[in-house]
Amino acid sequence: MKTLEVQIPGYEYIIHIGTQILDEQLPLAIQRFGTELIVVVTNTTIHALYPFHIEKCLESTGLQLETCILPDGEQYKNLETLNQIYDFLLQKGANRKTLIIAFGGGVIGDMTGFAAATFMRGIPYLQVPTTLLADVDSSIGGKTAVNHLLGKNTIGAFKQPVYVCMELNFLKTLAKRELVAGFFELVKHGIIYDAKLFKFLKEHQEVLETLDFAILEEAIHASCRIKANVVEQDEKEQGLRATLNFGHTLGHFIETHTNYTSYLHGEAVGAGMAFATFASYELGFLSETAYQDIISFLETLVPAIQLAPLDYSLFKELILHDKKANQQSVHFILIKDIGQCFIHKNTSPELIWELFQKFIEKHPWACQMAT
Ligand SMILES: NC(=O)c1ccc[n+]([C@@H]2O[C@H](COP(=O)([O-])OP(=O)(O)OC[C@H]3O[C@@H](n4cnc5c(N)ncnc54)[C@H](O)[C@@H]3O)[C@@H](O)[C@H]2O)c1
Ligand SMILES: [Zn+2]
Repeated sequence: MKTLEVQIPGYEYIIHIGTQILDEQLPLAIQRFGTELIVVVTNTTIHALYPFHIEKCLESTGLQLETCILPDGEQYKNLETLNQIYDFLLQKGANRKTLIIAFGGGVIGDMTGFAAATFMRGIPYLQVPTTLLADVDSSIGGKTAVNHLLGKNTIGAFKQPVYVCMELNFLKTLAKRELVAGFFELVKHGIIYDAKLFKFLKEHQEVLETLDFAILEEAIHASCRIKANVVEQDEKEQGLRATLNFGHTLGHFIETHTNYTSYLHGEAVGAGMAFATFASYELGFLSETAYQDIISFLETLVPAIQLAPLDYSLFKELILHDKKANQQSVHFILIKDIGQCFIHKNTSPELIWELFQKFIEKHPWACQMAT
């Protein structure tokens, strides 16, 4: 088991990463908080696969445990479902001492975290992530949110968990496609901050088939350390945290242009990372060797993204639609080398469009546009 401490002033907490750790670590963590009621928030899929798993882990504590089971899917990450959590908490007599446990992937984590941030002006929550994406990305850093019809993750709050327990055994039942989607965010952390992690992942790509937990534990630990480091320095995304959006400029564009129906977030980011790598090379920041090194790896992982025809004006509208973008230009995250990213400020949509056209011509394995 590996341990990582996240040190955001006033919100220090521990992350445990390992296999067969939940039974022992969760009750220990609970004892530290002195709670009376625990509410587990999960979804129908997780509940069917692991019925009352958390509750059984915590049986010995003798505490009152209640389970709120939500429908599964990104389409339910909204205010209506959030309200179901509030209803449940109120019906069960929750108060400011109640602890909520998010048991699921990023969707459950984001909604539960937001419920915890807002219920009675804030109650504690902890995360038991069950997807690779939640392990390496969504369960660290305290961003919580639900979607609005007019924008993804537009209603949210910063709320750090009190503890995160990454039990890797849950990954055994995760669909391969979901695993690869999470893997992209892991690779992202290597590309932007840690050449050693990138090399390690490239050398151990077979982990996506073998699910070798020793390798996963090491990679997830390195990845979490990177994200934790960034969040510790810039919790509220005033600057540095934006670098975690490497691959997301094109990634978000792909998601919006395809109405979030065709590709998983990680897959869109995978193609987006290939694009940002290409852009870094084209603009003269990245060497040919590093460019080839990254591209040859991504090529084995990225599904060819198929886009409906589009012209510059639609491209510009969608690129600027991204909430993380400025009004008439975007902060485009580029790299100078593997492990060295920087913010290419105020990049014009014209330049991105120009690069994008070259990119799809040169790398059709990543992205193709119908004519
Ligand atoms: N808060 C953040 O910083 C942050 C960062 C990245 C992504 N996110 C959010 O995370 C969400 C995506 O998270 P995700 O990729 O985990 O998706 P998800 O939570 O929808 O999980 C993917 C699918 O896998 C199922 N599943 C989960 N664990 C499983 C398991 N162990 N075995 C079998 N099936 C399992 C889920 O029920 C779901 O159907 C998005 O809403 C995104 O906006 C948040
Ligand atoms: Zn992402």
